[in-house]
Amino acid sequence: MKRYHFVVLSALIAIGALCIICASSEVASAEVSKEGQVCINCHKAQSPSFVKEWELSKHAAKGVDCYSCHKAEKSDPDAMDHNGYTIAILVTPKDCGRCHANEEKEMTTSHHAKAGDILNSLDNYLGEVVGGPEAVAVGCLQCHGAKVKVLDNGKLDTNSWPNTGIGRINPDGSKGSCSACHIRHNFSRAQAREPEICGKCHLGPDHPQIEVYEESKHGIVYAANKDKLNMDKDSWVVGKDYTAAPTCATCHISATPTQPVTHDVGARISWTLRPPVSKKLENADKKRAAMQDVCSSCHSSPFVEGFYKQFDNLVNLYDTKFAMPAMAIRKDLMEKGKISKADFDDKLDWIYWELWHHEGRRARHGAAMSGPDYAWWHGIYDVAKNFYTEFLPEVKSVAGPELYNELVKKHLDPDVRHEWYTKGMSKEQLQKIQQYYKERYGGTQTK
Ligand code: HEC
Ligand code: HEC
Ligand code: HEC
Ligand code: HEC
Ligand code: HEC
Ligand code: HEC
Ligand code: HEC
Ligand code: HEC
Repeated sequence: MKRYHFVVLSALIAIGALCIICASSEVASAEVSKEGQVCINCHKAQSPSFVKEWELSKHAAKGVDCYSCHKAEKSDPDAMDHNGYTIAILVTPKDCGRCHANEEKEMTTSHHAKAGDILNSLDNYLGEVVGGPEAVAVGCLQCHGAKVKVLDNGKLDTNSWPNTGIGRINPDGSKGSCSACHIRHNFSRAQAREPEICGKCHLGPDHPQIEVYEESKHGIVYAANKDKLNMDKDSWVVGKDYTAAPTCATCHISATPTQPVTHDVGARISWTLRPPVSKKLENADKKRAAMQDVCSSCHSSPFVEGFYKQFDNLVNLYDTKFAMPAMAIRKDLMEKGKISKADFDDKLDWIYWELWHHEGRRARHGAAMSGPDYAWWHGIYDVAKNFYTEFLPEVKSVAGPELYNELVKKHLDPDVRHEWYTKGMSKEQLQKIQQYYKERYGGTQTK
């Protein structure tokens, strides 16, 4: 056995020596560090794809090697001894920030870096208690970011790693994960400009941004012109380096002739459409102007103003007609003891949850990014169907007729837009519809 080990070891040393020769000739332009060269030599056999991907990167061309990124101090919480070197598996925003201070600062102050702080949210109660922590680990935390734990032996706890969630809480105290968008080990900016990278997280029933985008004219022209957008260029200024279509990055991150790249994805949005009732953000006007500057490269200002008018109108419609009365009615039922104050233990809690968290967000996201099917069929249509055929009937059933009538009087009657439901369709409306079908199809049917 020992003899066998000796033979293998000598063979490895010989391969290692050979590799030093071949590696140094292959990566000729880059001044790789002495330590980095050792990593490369061994990992070429151990994990050839990592090494190849790294060789193709800008980092390799500039001599930023394995050791530059993975090196650690003995005192670092996640430091481990590895073949005689002190390294860490995680390369956190703080580590990247040694060379990319600006990007680190912008990312760290953005909402992305806060995505791991969901512990006390309603969503988290739903995940941890109603669902289960095993599902949270492979669901929520893969998008939001886990709190990565280090075990006593220096290895990372498998309950929290692998993970590249956008707001990952790292052992060194930093927040986020740069490889949420810049995939290792190429770390390219071209790849991060593609909408698919955002689509890992920005999709589905409660925030379908990638679906909305694909449906929009923007997504359609993008698909038709993907190869003409010069995604590989270092400089990627809209209107200068490309003109055909915007991607998610164009509007939320990339440069315009007057704005630099920003790693704060909230820098150009004026609303947050996440809560039950939408909220204007701080410095909303300034942020909106920054987004409109992006649009102005391809659209006239009256066109853009028209878009924003329609968008704001939809947000206000959802907020005032549906979200605010639903919220107030549910609160009154809680105060009157008709449903409990806890979440998710009454049927009404679930109905209300889907009304704002799924359907209401879909409508708003559809309007924000020009996806008509999400604004209407997956949006306000679903909101209205839920409000009138599930929410209100459930309110009636838990409240009883007397309180129900009181609630309707208080929360719906002041708004004429609910009259069609509370008082029925007017004679004139019925007549108009019948007349329309008569003229169109020559019959008297109303559907
Ligand atoms: C003598 C060979 C050798 C050398 C030298 C070496 N590694 Fe490794 N490395 C390995 C092996 C083997 C593994 C484990 C692979 C496995 O278990 O699948 C590994 C794993 C790793 C891991 C992942 C650890 C984990 O638990 O997931 C990182 C990160 C790493 N190496 C980085 C480096 C860096 C940086 C250097 C240079 C300072 C380096 N390696 C030098 C052989 C080597
Ligand atoms: C620009 C910085 C950077 C460089 C250069 C770099 N890495 Fe990494 N590496 C990372 C990041 C980031 C991760 C993912 C860890 C995280 O999410 O924090 C990682 C993860 C790893 C892992 C474990 C992940 C897995 O999928 O198993 C290994 C092994 C590894 N790197 C080896 C290497 C080797 C070998 C080299 C040199 C050829 C290298 N790295 C160069 C940043 C870097
Ligand atoms: C597919 C990825 C993904 C999964 C899985 C996911 N989320 Fe999210 N979550 C997001 C995205 C993206 C947003 C932001 C959407 C937006 O801005 O419109 C978000 C928003 C939130 C918000 C709102 C934060 C705020 O500032 O208003 C909370 C809280 C939240 N998620 C918690 C959770 C919890 C808890 C789970 C699991 C039970 C979960 N999420 C599952 C991607 C995900
Ligand atoms: C939400 C996705 C996302 C995350 C997370 C992200 N980046 Fe970027 N990054 C991009 C995009 C998109 C570009 C390309 C911008 C453009 O069009 O030039 C980019 C460009 C860059 C560039 C090229 C220089 C520049 O300003 O264009 C560097 C360096 C960079 N990122 C570093 C980082 C670091 C370091 C982190 C973590 C602190 C990080 N990025 C996190 C999306 C991201
Ligand atoms: C030791 C310094 C150093 C570290 C650490 C480092 N980088 Fe870089 N990075 C560079 C240099 C140098 C360049 C090349 C700049 C250029 O070509 O102008 C670069 C370029 C980039 C680019 C642009 C690539 C492109 O396609 O043009 C991205 C993205 C990037 N780094 C992300 C990261 C991320 C993410 C990390 C951490 C995981 C990281 N870097 C760690 C030095 C570093
Ligand atoms: C790994 C998951 C993930 C990826 C990848 C990701 N995001 Fe996010 N993003 C989130 C989560 C989670 C939130 C919500 C954070 C919160 O509210 O706590 C969010 C929030 C946002 C916001 C709202 C910011 C604010 O200030 O309210 C914007 C805009 C955004 N992301 C754009 C993007 C774009 C553009 C990309 C791709 C270049 C991208 N994201 C990639 C998970 C991700
Ligand atoms: C043509 C420009 C444009 C493109 C392309 C675009 N967005 Fe947006 N996005 C917007 C605008 C405009 C808003 C609303 C701005 C405001 O609130 O003032 C917005 C809002 C958002 C929000 C905030 C939603 C919330 O709940 O508050 C997120 C997250 C987001 N976009 C992600 C994405 C992702 C991911 C993609 C690609 C799949 C994308 N965007 C593509 C312009 C764009
Ligand atoms: C890189 C160019 C580019 C940028 C930047 C851009 N758009 Fe567009 N946009 C287009 C193109 C191309 C079309 C399709 C025109 C057509 O229908 O013939 C379009 C169409 C639209 C439409 C019409 C949608 C429809 O279905 O008819 C709206 C609304 C719109 N854009 C709003 C915006 C807003 C708001 C912004 C900034 C947040 C923006 N665009 C940024 C290129 C761009």
